[in-house]
Amino acid sequence: MLKVAVLIGSLRQGSYNLQLANTMKERYINKIDFEIADIRSLPFFDQDIELNPPQAVKELLRKIVSADGVLIITPEYNWSVPGVLKNALDWLSRVDKVLIGKPVMTAGVSPGMMGTIRAQLHLREILASPGILAKLLPPAGNEIYISSAGLKFDESTGRLVDESTLRFIDRVVDKFIDFAR
Ligand SMILES: Cc1cc2nc3c(=O)[nH]c(=O)nc-3n(C[C@H](O)[C@H](O)[C@H](O)COP(=O)(O)O)c2cc1C
Repeated sequence: MLKVAVLIGSLRQGSYNLQLANTMKERYINKIDFEIADIRSLPFFDQDIELNPPQAVKELLRKIVSADGVLIITPEYNWSVPGVLKNALDWLSRVDKVLIGKPVMTAGVSPGMMGTIRAQLHLREILASPGILAKLLPPAGNEIYISSAGLKFDESTGRLVDESTLRFIDRVVDKFIDFAR
């Protein structure tokens, strides 16, 4: 079974992006072993300590190394990716450079109409930088950018329930499994 580490760009308890991660974890339980990585405990990136980073960084590095792929699910903050996610990617881009060649797919959820598209475009640029150089699932046909979250998630269960969105994600996930093999 494919092992996929999940980075979530929101620390909020009721995060829609976390809800999407939980939905995918349950829905694809027979296909993918999703493990949500802790990025809350990471300190701010500091080049002075990159050669011997704190435990939380070492754990994240280990998690990424042992994963067959990475799923990044992020909201958009001020037309870009949230600082917590960028900070995590900065840690991962140094010394061992564990994301180079790693299969990555991205997704995002917003309550508004734009479905995180601006953040996703920035994220793609970041993922193409020399220290990261991830093997990104080609975006054409695979853009899981969910708008109007309030209409598509069930407030009581905290899960994505919009059927056509779920079916679209099913197809992208199957493509990612082939892509990551
Ligand atoms: C600092 C900040 C900046 C935001 N900027 C944007 C933005 O640029 N575009 C957008 O669609 N929503 C923006 N939002 C609204 C988020 O999409 C919304 O809070 C969303 O629920 C956050 O994701 P989460 O539910 O996973 O925490 C912003 C929210 C915050 C807190």
